[in-house]
Amino acid sequence: MIREPGYPSDPWHITETELDLEVLAQSESVFALSNGHIGLRGNLDEGEPHGLPGSYLNSFYELRPLPHAEAGYGYPEQGQTIVNVTNGKLIRLLVDDEPFDVRYGELRSHQRELDLRAGTLERSVDWVSPAGRAVRVHSTRLVSFTHRAVAAICYEVEPLDGKARLVVQSGLVANEELPVAKSDPRVAAVLREPLQSEQHIANGEGGLLIHHTKASGLRMAAGMTHVVDSPKDVVVNTESFSDWVRTTIACVLRPGQRLRVIKLIAYGWSSQRSLPALRDQVGAALASAKLAGWDGLLQDQREYLDDFWDAGDVRVEGDPEVQQAVRFGMFHVLQAGARNEMRPIAAKGLTGPGYDGHVFWDTEMFALPVLIYTKPQAAVEVLRWRHATLDLARERARTLGLKGAAFPWRTIRGHETSGYWPAGTAAFHISAGIADATIRYVQATGDEEFEREAGVELLVETARLWRSLGHYDRHGAFHIDGVTGPDEYSAIANDNVYTNLMAQRNLLGAADAVARHSDVAAELGVEHSEAESWREAANALVIPYDHELGVHQQSEGFTRFQEWDFAGTNPEEYPLLLTHPYFDLYRRQVLKQADLVLAMHWRGDMFSPDEKARNFQYYEARTTRDSSLSACTQAVLAAETGHLELAYDYLGEAALTDLHDTHSNTRDGVHLASLAGSWIALVAGFGGMRDHDGILSFSPRLPARLTRLDFSLLWRGFRLRVSVGSEDVTYYLRDGDHEPGKRLELFHHGTSVTVEEGSPATLPIPSAPRAESEPVQPVGRAPVRRHSAVTPADVSVQP
Ligand code: BGC
Repeated sequence: MIREPGYPSDPWHITETELDLEVLAQSESVFALSNGHIGLRGNLDEGEPHGLPGSYLNSFYELRPLPHAEAGYGYPEQGQTIVNVTNGKLIRLLVDDEPFDVRYGELRSHQRELDLRAGTLERSVDWVSPAGRAVRVHSTRLVSFTHRAVAAICYEVEPLDGKARLVVQSGLVANEELPVAKSDPRVAAVLREPLQSEQHIANGEGGLLIHHTKASGLRMAAGMTHVVDSPKDVVVNTESFSDWVRTTIACVLRPGQRLRVIKLIAYGWSSQRSLPALRDQVGAALASAKLAGWDGLLQDQREYLDDFWDAGDVRVEGDPEVQQAVRFGMFHVLQAGARNEMRPIAAKGLTGPGYDGHVFWDTEMFALPVLIYTKPQAAVEVLRWRHATLDLARERARTLGLKGAAFPWRTIRGHETSGYWPAGTAAFHISAGIADATIRYVQATGDEEFEREAGVELLVETARLWRSLGHYDRHGAFHIDGVTGPDEYSAIANDNVYTNLMAQRNLLGAADAVARHSDVAAELGVEHSEAESWREAANALVIPYDHELGVHQQSEGFTRFQEWDFAGTNPEEYPLLLTHPYFDLYRRQVLKQADLVLAMHWRGDMFSPDEKARNFQYYEARTTRDSSLSACTQAVLAAETGHLELAYDYLGEAALTDLHDTHSNTRDGVHLASLAGSWIALVAGFGGMRDHDGILSFSPRLPARLTRLDFSLLWRGFRLRVSVGSEDVTYYLRDGDHEPGKRLELFHHGTSVTVEEGSPATLPIPSAPRAESEPVQPVGRAPVRRHSAVTPADVSVQP
């Protein structure tokens, strides 16, 4: 873990009170702003020093070769890498000819603050130039949720101790030089000069750059304009060259006078539109941003976020750090998806180049569960994007000799780009994850239009995949062999329980969907017999169980493998994938991340409480959590099986992944799945929320430190609020305008309850199941004990 910047606990802000250049790259990810279409890392306005400069556009990528030392049939030959696009956030300042640079002169104070309600990043600096001139700089940056193509910066400078000549140089810069990547294989490949100039334009107040990528054939335009406000005369002029445009604003001010520059930035990109069309699109976006004005952009941003928090806020009493972290996590998940419109959500969102900017199953199984219940309009866009890539997934299935659609393990555009087939190609469960999110979304929203236009086809094509991937044995049991489940320390396994149970949901969900929409089914060529074959296969799927140990096997034969020597493993050997050959990991009982335990969350209806308790204990002892996707799931099952304090520890781990940089790679972008995981740990863990088969149920129970957990959800047009105390819980309902009787049936600890608008229901919380023994983690891999880490002073009531 690298040094952690201190972010004081605050329910709505992430504040950095001092600039620490050692953790600059990490803070750039934490402070990244995005709307799902544009992403700007939290680089300093003046561009230098930087950890990792970054400006991204969703799905704007370059192709690169994917060399294999020993090639094989079906190996993808081209990789896709997110491009660091034209930097529009650059604003340099010169004070009496000296560049404002925090490494020189005297930095009297430096504060940055991410405001989770305003949707802005603010920066306040008091700096004395090497020649002794003191200035105050204040900047506020936003990436607009309401103007999809627009980002804006309000940049203010004032001299503090005497007359000063101020020159602000605001730029657009393409092909910025990037630091060379570290040797960690997970770090993105760095592309040098990926953009080729097509046109540059300067006008008085701003300008425009148009570029295209060399191989992927994508064209992008970035434009800027400025609104200048100064008490004294200013000189403004703009110059442009192939890779940069610079607007210079110069004036002389005295103390008490302030120069204010509003910089409006717009981006557009396309694989098809012409240069004039893109140029005009960016011009139009700038014009409408100018019309809204800075105050209008701020107000729109606030209203958008007010609505989001009203629908989905989570309030935690008793742990201010978790309170801050869960809102921070939700904010980043929202940022990653808000305006993605038919585009994916990558594992790092648009906050950094990690994993080459690729999209994994993290999207459907971690980020979408949050968005489906808090911002369903964003969730459905991801599913529509998957639908738009169906042809590529069908082609991939054909290449693999399969039917239906095999979605890529990692991609930007929709092609498989995983170079390591046992982890990539064989991780077929991603297709079931997409089906699961489709079913979940439709059940939670009742969006029949989406179901008919895209949902049924997604379910049908993925069901076809499973039916062709699996086979019947001579006893009539249906097996899915040779796959990799979520735990990447096992591969090419037979009958992975998670995969089989998710495939089962997929097969049954597809059969149900075609029964509901027979006309759509007919268009897709689904006959009655085909849908029946899905049901039969689903019902004959094998779920391996070890009768001697009384636990499920993660995959067939897993519980007979040799145990990992945890006692003989040094702490520096983790993550094991960087210090041990996969060969060794695959044949032992060692888990990178929750697998069977994840199955017990999303297919919890298929396990009895006793099975859950025993399985949880068994896999706890073998799970390293080398992946950040694990802790939240362990929190959910720890809570369900009565280990509330352990669940609380895991909640802390998931929630603080990026604020504490626990995986030492936040510099490359935030861990979106884990950030989503803080919501999952609270809502599904301590709130006990499940929605198996469209039935909403809660089994809330709090750990000792939390005095109250209050969360809101959207469910079929209702806004539902669940307020959990240590003794009882109250369910509140509103806005169910489309529902007859404005009432909702849900389950509370297994008992049916009808909640009506205007009359909340309060119910007692039964005591937790008695756990026979405490789960034990591998030596040295227990989570940080959060329940003892929180001091009584931290325990306070949050607004
Ligand atoms: C995890 C995968 C995950 C990927 C991207 C890997 O370390 O094992 O489950 O999809 O990271 O976050």
